[in-house]
Amino acid sequence: MYLGNTLALPVNSNPGMVLPPRSPMTLAEQCALAARLATGLLKHKEVLDHGGIAQERATSREKGQPLCMTQFYRLLTTCRVPSVPRDMLITEPCSPRSQEHIIVACKNQFYVIFLKKDGCAVGEDLIAAAVQGIVKDATARSSMNGLQPAVGLLTTDRRDTWAQVRELLAQSDKNCDNMELIQSSLALICMDDPLPTSFNYRALTDNYKGHKVGARDETNMAHQMIHGGGSAFNTSNRWFDKTMQFVLSSDGVWGFCYEHSPAEGVAVVQLVEQLLKQTEEPLTYPKTSIPAPQPLQWQLSGPLHQHIQNAASNVNSLLQDLDLYIYRFLGYGKDSIKLCKVSPDAYIQLALQLAYFRLNQKLTATYESAGTRRFRMGRVDCIRSASLEAMAWVEAMCRLEAEGAASNHSEMCLELYDKAVAKQTLEMVDNILGQGIDIHLLGLNKAAKENLHSEPEIFLDKAFSKLNHFSLSTSQVSTVSDSFMGYGPVVHDGYGASYNPRKDSIIFCLSAFKSCESTSTWKFANSLEKSLLSMQQLLASRSRK
Ligand code: COA
Repeated sequence: MYLGNTLALPVNSNPGMVLPPRSPMTLAEQCALAARLATGLLKHKEVLDHGGIAQERATSREKGQPLCMTQFYRLLTTCRVPSVPRDMLITEPCSPRSQEHIIVACKNQFYVIFLKKDGCAVGEDLIAAAVQGIVKDATARSSMNGLQPAVGLLTTDRRDTWAQVRELLAQSDKNCDNMELIQSSLALICMDDPLPTSFNYRALTDNYKGHKVGARDETNMAHQMIHGGGSAFNTSNRWFDKTMQFVLSSDGVWGFCYEHSPAEGVAVVQLVEQLLKQTEEPLTYPKTSIPAPQPLQWQLSGPLHQHIQNAASNVNSLLQDLDLYIYRFLGYGKDSIKLCKVSPDAYIQLALQLAYFRLNQKLTATYESAGTRRFRMGRVDCIRSASLEAMAWVEAMCRLEAEGAASNHSEMCLELYDKAVAKQTLEMVDNILGQGIDIHLLGLNKAAKENLHSEPEIFLDKAFSKLNHFSLSTSQVSTVSDSFMGYGPVVHDGYGASYNPRKDSIIFCLSAFKSCESTSTWKFANSLEKSLLSMQQLLASRSRK
């Protein structure tokens, strides 16, 4: 599903996650934080090498079933490589290696730090010193010669374009060695410049209801994690094909961007929250000064320079079109929803349906990812939340809202709500227990393409493409920390809507394209707020009876 998609990775595919911002950092502190991440990654890799992550089990709905752990073993050993007709995922099996390394990206340059010497882990203070040397070196180089050619930008282009350009790049052995080093690293650590507060200006001036930390708001921070902010900011400081890219900026804003094909958000969030915990311990500051390693040197012909410029222009247009909005609903959270004896996830899905209906007077094909890790190699299936029951309920809710307090429709609305909740919950449980339809159909479709002369009619039917035009692409990404993950919409006239149900609030990460006249994350957030508040009132009317 991922590898066959030729769209550019930033915005269209790679999610970004904002971690709880730290205070503005000195260079030494920023480097110490990078070093803590690096040592944490190495320790985690050693656990993976020995097959040592604890077996997880389902905590509800056929509680105790073992969950497939394969995804976890791919996070630090994988890189996506562009190819035609479909990309490849290069994964090395986890096994103890005498050498492990990370790539530090700074001012568009890539530097290698080896984390082991003679098979033993390098001290954290030495890694911090190496990162400090790198930042100083990259800064000096960029102020002396201007920014170096931003080869990383090539990874932002359409996959088929990048596949062709990569062949040009690979004509040089030096370039091949560089790409091999990036691909085989544990992860990238991107030492970023903060995005200016003027970035994402619309949300800041538009009676913004999101959460601000210092001068930057959370939407601005999410832009940095999802795409870097454009070629004038940090987009060149990335290698979007690499599974894990940690992003640290000196103002204390940090998080990561990840390439989606090897794993789902759940696995990634677990690893990152484990690293986050380790960063809460006092950091180890660089004690010595170490000369920086050389940045990777690229051999670039004239056409490659042109391709970098084209990629810059393409990615800049793409991200300028991204309408993003981090909306924190502070009215209530999952604890109150649970008290109403309903699954918080089902409830939030219904709120999303109501929000969409109010704006569009119709429902739309909706995708919600359902983890299918109860099955070997299971990833996700699709909970289709736009049901007939949801439709009947949202229509009744809009009637109720229009009639106000005088309405005598609340009884009927409650009945329809119960039916919609029951349907949504059933759909959710069916999916996580392996009774979903989408992955099954995807498998049949792929098998038909490979084995039959013509595609079966069902896959050519207009209804099938309508069914898969997900104008609402949703996903629960829950976290222990006060973090959130976001991604772009999957169709031009659609919304991306990830959510993180907290105890007494819900964080939504809403996205759409500015060039689509029928969508607006600002309007969607307002409609969502109205939906969540009117659902609360509806349920309160039941408890008063
Ligand atoms: N009454 C009271 N409490 C209820 C309830 C009810 N009727 N139904 C559920 N709850 C409780 C649950 O016990 C759970 O409690 P906990 O917080 O103590 O664990 C909590 O409410 C949340 O349950 P629910 O909202 O039903 O959802 P969930 O946590 O089981 O998640 C999915 C549902 C579909 C999101 C989850 O199964 C899943 O598949 N997650 C993976 C999604 C994914 O892959 N995302 C990333 C894509 S990149």
